[in-house]
Amino acid sequence: MTRIALVSEIDLTFLEAPFRRALPDAVLATWPDQAAEQAEVAVCWQPPPGALATMPKLRLIHSIAAGVDNILSDPALPPLPLCRIVDPMLARAMAEFVLWGTLYFHRQFDLVIRDGREGRWHRYEQHAAADIRVGILGLGAIGISAAELLVTAGYQVTGWSRTPKQVVGVTVHAGDDELDAFLSGADILICLLPLTLSTIGILNAERLGRLRKGAALILCSRGDHLVVDDLVTLVRAGHLRGAILDVFDKEPLPADHPLWREPGILVTPHMGGMAKPRVIADQVAENIRRLQAGEALCNRVDPTRGY
Ligand code: NDP
Ligand code: OXD
Repeated sequence: MTRIALVSEIDLTFLEAPFRRALPDAVLATWPDQAAEQAEVAVCWQPPPGALATMPKLRLIHSIAAGVDNILSDPALPPLPLCRIVDPMLARAMAEFVLWGTLYFHRQFDLVIRDGREGRWHRYEQHAAADIRVGILGLGAIGISAAELLVTAGYQVTGWSRTPKQVVGVTVHAGDDELDAFLSGADILICLLPLTLSTIGILNAERLGRLRKGAALILCSRGDHLVVDDLVTLVRAGHLRGAILDVFDKEPLPADHPLWREPGILVTPHMGGMAKPRVIADQVAENIRRLQAGEALCNRVDPTRGY
């Protein structure tokens, strides 16, 4: 009988039924109930800092998401195996979001929607997808899925990752030395990096300034990748065309936040993709089985790399 705790600053009750189905013999508790202290497995999204350190029997920490920055940021995080969700359906959902965002700029919906508010009928010059260069920061489970969909849609796709990769139809740059060359070749920049000490604030004035005039940004990784004021300055100055922002340093973005009303910026509510509760429960159940059998865990995070 495994004791599992749901540990989060947000309500995770939507996971209870799928977990009961996937692990009928497990005992499920929700932090901060006292029963959660006895848990061997913590299932987390934004665990309150210090909460995991109060669980002496813990053997596994499992994210309910692809990103684990909100777990690794706990200064009292116990040195235990940490796993995340890697799901083809989540990657596909993210790829669809990225394709939509690419079409939004490529087919000038940003301009047409703005014109429509003023009752202005204007037909813009059209460009073939093959003439649009889309650059993807991060070629992991999600970045590769997005790159493949964009290649299928006919775009020129480049990618940037820490280590070299081979993705059919994609020109890949790797490492810090190749970042500037990658940035200068993108009309639309998409960020799908994990948030780590190496990537925090990566989208600042210097890097965004390397994009060609009129380029656009689609941010669907984490809010802290972006220096918002730098983006706004570059958009207001006309260097950048605009941005779709799906993620923010504080979520939900407050209703009175100026970004909601900033011309050229489109805010979406962290909707790029989310694994289904059933998939989360099944992946955690499989890792619990592996833990108990002494087998290698799936989708284990390297805490020194931060992803
Ligand atoms: P992965 O860990 O599979 O991939 C990360 C990629 O980033 C890898 O290609 C890695 O390179 C690259 N990378 C990491 N650090 C660096 C660096 N310093 N320099 C260059 N490249 C680097 O992550 P996923 O694809 O699964 O997810 C990416 C992120 O998407 C998540 O961390 C999360 O923040 C975000 N996300 C957002 C969602 C939303 O709804 N908006 C939903 C799901 C995820 P290498 O392969 O060489 O190691
Ligand atoms: C994730 C997310 O990381 O939902 O999976 O942002």
